[in-house]
Amino acid sequence: MRVVVLVSGRGSNLQALLDARERLPIELLEVISNRPGVQALHRAEQAGVPATVLDHTGYSSREAFDQALGDHLEALQPDLIVLAGFMRILTPAFVRRFRGRMINLHPSLLPKYPGLHTHQRALDAGDREAGASIHLVTEELDGGPVIMQARVAVQPDDDADRLAARILPLEHQMLLQVVERMARGEIQCRDDQVFLNGERLEHPLALAG
Ligand code: GRF
Repeated sequence: MRVVVLVSGRGSNLQALLDARERLPIELLEVISNRPGVQALHRAEQAGVPATVLDHTGYSSREAFDQALGDHLEALQPDLIVLAGFMRILTPAFVRRFRGRMINLHPSLLPKYPGLHTHQRALDAGDREAGASIHLVTEELDGGPVIMQARVAVQPDDDADRLAARILPLEHQMLLQVVERMARGEIQCRDDQVFLNGERLEHPLALAG
């Protein structure tokens, strides 16, 4: 499976993929960042994976950036595009162009808390559980069908940072499990739907292990 990873920052999820790529049936074609100088780019370079910067501030509009990003991606012919901490809202036209081929990591138990500050919002709401989701990207922001979720219990002394620190390693595991199962054809995405062994996935999978 030909995989491209889109990043904007730290890249710890990217690192999990880089570390596991030898044992996964995937080819990591390229890492693309919309921000120059971020840690994720160094991680890719260290691992010998091509790293490209497409700086969104150099484009006159969201549409122009998405057009350039889309043209660049299309030339790579990816089977899967992983949004791993990619902090950009994508235009519907871009999403349609790569429909069924993009997954996103989101640090909440979707459909709860799309958008930002998810852990703080879970704490403010008094939730007993928090977590992260991997979903298929559709035109609705953080709204596509959820493929897998990881859950943790909220502790009385949790703050957003502590919660994030407990959830992040689970995100890494989840990403590897989803990518591996997609690469093996067990999980398939068609248009805006997810299938598990040919059956439509009705509920998100739980992180195994
Ligand atoms: C993760 O928490 C992910 O859920 C969110 O952004 C963060 C990215 O972390 N979308 P990293 O850049 O992979 O370390």
